[in-house]
Amino acid sequence: MQIRDMWRIYSHVVLLLVVVSSTYCSAVNETKFVNTDKSKFKILSVFGHLGKSHFDVFKPLLEELARHGHEITVISYFPRTDSAKAKEPLPNYKDISLVDPKVGVYVNVVDLHQVSHSRFFLATQLLLLRSMADFACQTGLRHPLITEFLRRDEKFDVILTENFNTDCFLGFIHHFKAPYLALSSHQIMPWTNEDMGNEDNPSYIPNIFFGLTRPMDLIDRMKNAVTLLLFNAAYDYWFRPADQAIANEVFGPDLPELSEIARQSRALLVNTHNSFHGSRPQLPNVIEVGGLHIPPKVNPVPKDIAKFLDSANDEGVLYFSLGSMIKSTTMPKEKLDAILNVIESIPRKVIWKWESDESPRKMDNVMTRKWLPQFDVMNHPNIKCYLGHGGLLGLSESVYIGLPSILIPMFGDQFHNSAAVKTRGAAIVLDFNNFNEQYFRQAVDACFNDTSYRENAQRLSKAYRDRPATPLETAVWWTEYIARGNGIPYLRSEGADLPWYQLHLIDVALVLIIGFAAFIYIFFRLIKLLLSLLKGTAGSQAGKTSKRKKD
Ligand SMILES: *[C@@H]1O[C@H](CO)[C@@H](O)[C@H](O)[C@H]1NC(C)=O
Repeated sequence: MQIRDMWRIYSHVVLLLVVVSSTYCSAVNETKFVNTDKSKFKILSVFGHLGKSHFDVFKPLLEELARHGHEITVISYFPRTDSAKAKEPLPNYKDISLVDPKVGVYVNVVDLHQVSHSRFFLATQLLLLRSMADFACQTGLRHPLITEFLRRDEKFDVILTENFNTDCFLGFIHHFKAPYLALSSHQIMPWTNEDMGNEDNPSYIPNIFFGLTRPMDLIDRMKNAVTLLLFNAAYDYWFRPADQAIANEVFGPDLPELSEIARQSRALLVNTHNSFHGSRPQLPNVIEVGGLHIPPKVNPVPKDIAKFLDSANDEGVLYFSLGSMIKSTTMPKEKLDAILNVIESIPRKVIWKWESDESPRKMDNVMTRKWLPQFDVMNHPNIKCYLGHGGLLGLSESVYIGLPSILIPMFGDQFHNSAAVKTRGAAIVLDFNNFNEQYFRQAVDACFNDTSYRENAQRLSKAYRDRPATPLETAVWWTEYIARGNGIPYLRSEGADLPWYQLHLIDVALVLIIGFAAFIYIFFRLIKLLLSLLKGTAGSQAGKTSKRKKD
């Protein structure tokens, strides 16, 4: 056999081997970055806050988890309604309802006469947060159904609970000894960033309490930084001890410090998105699911509303709603008149959520309704401008749809949300204190007639929607990931456990500064010494020379 033949046979054999082995490999050793473990989990979800808008953000997640076959128990003031159950029974979804007609919920409760944006604004906000927390803890935790639930011997794979103004509901985490996933229906509260070790640098991240626009000047940064310190201190020294007292009473005296339990959260799902609220560093277990509540499809609106909207044609319609908590009917007279004068005079139609059967004035171009299917109405192609209060649900919907907006923030995170969209050039923000007809007319003109707002809103919408997975898929994945037992060692930031002076490298800076100062000091002492030595020798030599000259 010739060498060339041998070489040919050899190369054929090698080729064959490569083909066989690679087929074998791809058939048997295929690997993927997914967990195919299809277990069903037992999930507990606790919502002690009485605000419907907070619950509404996470309702789609709770229902989706039930659809995935997990058994979910939901403690809240917002049990599934009979009509929702008729549409989709979801037998895996169990409600423990805290509803009490004597207590009510926070719907249509904000009286606009009492909304004041005075110098004491921050103090008022803090007091409001604390009084809502006290109320939620006292009524929620002492509810007879909770007492009975705690006596039952149930086990859970994961607990979902809201991070807002109180830690008292974290007692459930200790009681059931289950891993927990925190939820934030708004921008992350400062104390939650602190507990998780998530970056919250006030030099460029506006906090939730103000409407600061980026970039911040010196005064803004002062405000931002001081508020952050004050609110965190208030939470540590006022809120937490108060929560602890109530929780100890309900969960027993062996309950650990609530602040300790708060530090055990495995991950946080937050209802923000960088396109909307701005870019900021997030830990790998802080997951933005902004727009989680936005439904996957638009439903047709009721006939009478559809007729009104369809007839608008070119002029377009203004959609006006102040959300679920504010009672529009409590609008102070001179401000209401300003609004009515403007909306009556514009060559546009207006559809308005107004919580009364009686319209405040008879106007041909305006339709009022006590309730409106907001998302469906907003999606109508003739809606050209959104007039709202900067609540995160409505505003996220307008951002998603790409509607320019006029925002009149009233309380809570509304200033922060409004400022964020204003920074993107997609909103005009009005101050409620200085609200008057001229000011409002200019804003309405700009929203309809200045195309830049519309263009910016459309660009923002595109960025807000462009994600690797829907917020709902992301939220479900994280819930199951935590329930599968993945957690703290892989996710927790070491930064969260460092004392502040180590975290901010104050100790390192001190050592470096002292070391450098010591070095400089020694260096100059040495030079001085050398100089004096040199001078000494020079002097004595000069002495010698002069002596010699004399000789
Ligand atoms: C927009 O411009 C038109 C035409 O100049 C004007 O009639 C209208 O009042 C302006 N404002 C609004 C809100 O449409």
